[in-house]
Amino acid sequence: MKILVLNGPNLNMLGIREPDIYGTSTYKDLVALIEKHCAEKGIEVNCLQSNHEGDLVDYIQQAYFDKVDGIVINPGAYTHTSVAILDALKAVSIPTVEVHISHVDERESFRQLSYVSYYATRTIIGEGFDGYLKAIDFLADGVN
Ligand code: DQA
Repeated sequence: MKILVLNGPNLNMLGIREPDIYGTSTYKDLVALIEKHCAEKGIEVNCLQSNHEGDLVDYIQQAYFDKVDGIVINPGAYTHTSVAILDALKAVSIPTVEVHISHVDERESFRQLSYVSYYATRTIIGEGFDGYLKAIDFLADGVN
């Protein structure tokens, strides 16, 4: 099984950005956690991050040609603005779980709309880094 984990803008700043909201662990820590979890489960994983909307669209399209089985995506702020990312997910039709580290549902009103949610099978919010592992387990096993 092949999984793509995609992180959007400012998630490379984990550990530095708003630690009261996103915690003190870094993006590097997140990737290490995901890679360890996937190695234990025999899952092939590719973790990518970009601050650019078009890059995220390109990575999603590439996942189709790479025969990726599942996508875990935290689109960052593009969650709330990007029809292009939604359309890319619909185009490739790969099972997708949306993850947010913070409790977006308890934050500002502009964070209450998620375009990606129109496609994602499941959305995991407010579970910190564990949310990514739960998303991977859901894609791999259909449960968690
Ligand atoms: C986020 C929530 C978004 O609203 C925000 O723009 C982010 C991170 C989260 O993981 O909680 O960059 O997706």
